[in-house]
Amino acid sequence: MNIIAVQEPRDRRESGVAHILLSADAIQSRVRELAGEVDGWYPEATPLLVGVLTGAVSFMTDLMRAMRIPMVVDFMAVSSYGASTKSTGVVRILKDLNDEIEGRHVVVVEDIVDSGLTLQYLLDVLERRNPASLRVVALLKKEKADAIDVQVDLIGFTIPDEFVIGYGLDYAGEYRNLPYVAVLDPSAIRG
Ligand code: IMP
Repeated sequence: MNIIAVQEPRDRRESGVAHILLSADAIQSRVRELAGEVDGWYPEATPLLVGVLTGAVSFMTDLMRAMRIPMVVDFMAVSSYGASTKSTGVVRILKDLNDEIEGRHVVVVEDIVDSGLTLQYLLDVLERRNPASLRVVALLKKEKADAIDVQVDLIGFTIPDEFVIGYGLDYAGEYRNLPYVAVLDPSAIRG
């Protein structure tokens, strides 16, 4: 993996960047590949893509525009870490889907799988609603020995177990508008 050092922050949004892990170009080209794979899952069906707010917004919008099959989208919001960098394991639905998913082919679009707890919770909730099928595409998965063994059908990048920001991912709500994925500078961690 290429680690590109950031010498000086170029603009204010880059203040918490320690170093860039995945460039905007690398992300865009991988997202196009992922879109092709998801297209291939549904030669006839029109899948429902479920984006997990807020982190998956950048990934979702790029993925859906790179897909070439008919599809529909919906979003769910679950509780996040707030100003912590560790998962609490307690997940709450903050916003549910607008429509029923019974009999639909559902693809969960996740930004990152860390401990796997959030995704596992979400899959349990969705499975109980009897979709025709349930698949998962995650842009990032952390290399983590103690992560739970959760279903992820497609992974964009496997990354080291560090807290990352950018391309939708936040720390305390900020940095989502970075076009790349970067490691958070520890000096930017509050408290
Ligand atoms: P998990 O439950 O530990 O797998 O965490 C999943 C959720 O936590 C993701 O959907 C993200 O919203 C958030 N998260 C996990 N790791 C990171 C990170 O490194 N940066 C930003 N958000 C993260």
